Parts: sequence; C-alpha cells; structure tokens
Amino acid sequence: MSNITYLKGNILKLKNYPHILIHSCNCDGSWGGGIAYQMSIRYPRSEKDYIEICEEGGSDLLGSCSLIPSYAEDNLIIACLFTSSLGGSGHGSKESIVKYTKQALDDMYSQLQDPATGKSLGAVAPLMEYKLEMPKINSGIFGVPWEMTEKELLEYKSKMDFTVYEL
Ligand code: APR
Repeated sequence: MSNITYLKGNILKLKNYPHILIHSCNCDGSWGGGIAYQMSIRYPRSEKDYIEICEEGGSDLLGSCSLIPSYAEDNLIIACLFTSSLGGSGHGSKESIVKYTKQALDDMYSQLQDPATGKSLGAVAPLMEYKLEMPKINSGIFGVPWEMTEKELLEYKSKMDFTVYEL
C-alpha cells in the first residue's frame, strides 16, 4: 500500500483532527503567491514567524524545515520546507528544489520524533500522530513536475504517510 493518499479539494478546509500542513517555501520571507498567499490571509501570525525565521536564516535555511503554530486552529501546525532561496520567477532549478525538499523532509521527520518540539508548539497530541497533509508541493510556482516530488515522498514509506490535496 502506498504512503500517499490523494484527496480532491481545498487543503485549507477546516479539520477536526490534529494535522500538519506541509508546504514549500522560499527563504526570502515572502508568502506572496499560491498556497502561501492563502495561508498569509488565514494565518497572519504564522506568516510573521516565517518572516522572522527568514530574516535570521536567509539561504542557510535551504534544506531545513520550520514547524510553526497556526495560532488560529488548535489542531493545526504549519511545516515550512525551505526548498528555494527565492520565490516567484527567481526560484531554484527543479533538481535543487527536489534535493532540498528531501533534506527538509528528513529534518521535519527528526523534529516530529522529538517530544520537546511538540511541547514548544503546544501540540495537542504527539507530533508523530498528526496527519501529514500537503498540496502538490513544488508543482505550482516552483514549476517542478509533481512526479519528481512524489518519487521522493514514496521513499518515506515506512516512516511517514502523506495526504495530498489536489484541486
Ligand atoms: N488547496 C489545495 N491545493 C492548492 C491550494 C489549495 N487551497 N492552493 C494551491 N494549491 C496547489 C496548486 O494548484 C499547486 O498544485 O498547490 C500546489 C503548489 O502550488 P504553489 O502554492 O504555487 O506552491 P509551490 O509550487 O510549492 O511553490 C512555492 O509559492 O506558495 C508560494 O511562497 C511560496 O515561494 C513559494 C512558492
């Protein structure tokens, strides 16, 4: 059985279970387009955290993951995968975005296993019990064919299950 489940619909619809919304980010402090823009409207405090993280880390963030509270919903944590230095048309190559996606997912996985991370985020359950959800990351503004990212997600078969929303 695959570790990826596909669902049709808007990933931002409200849920009644603990979940982590995973998305790809630039390191430039901009949630200006795509899913990130929608999140900036719904989760302005999270966007503020994200901007501060970018101001501090810049491109050193590449290949890392920042978990931040959504503040608006108790059962939602946001995972920012830093996969490109810049957003928009200045984004990295497909190959580098996929490489950094894998590194950032590895980083996310180790943070999920650390009980201290959940505590600092005010998690409502152990983070490993949160449902891992994402849109088809990298396949919009970042222009990476979905199959390239999907191939990497499948590598986590014994470690993480993902629910992927497609519009
Ligand atoms: N629900 C489900 N899927 C969505 C939604 C939604 N509400 N909004 C967008 N999508 C889909 C898009 O159709 C696309 O397939 O999410 C996928 C990823 O799109 P982008 O948001 O363009 O993200 P990505 O390609 O990963 O590029 C990341 O764009 O999101 C900004 O700031 C972010 O610089 C970063 C870049």
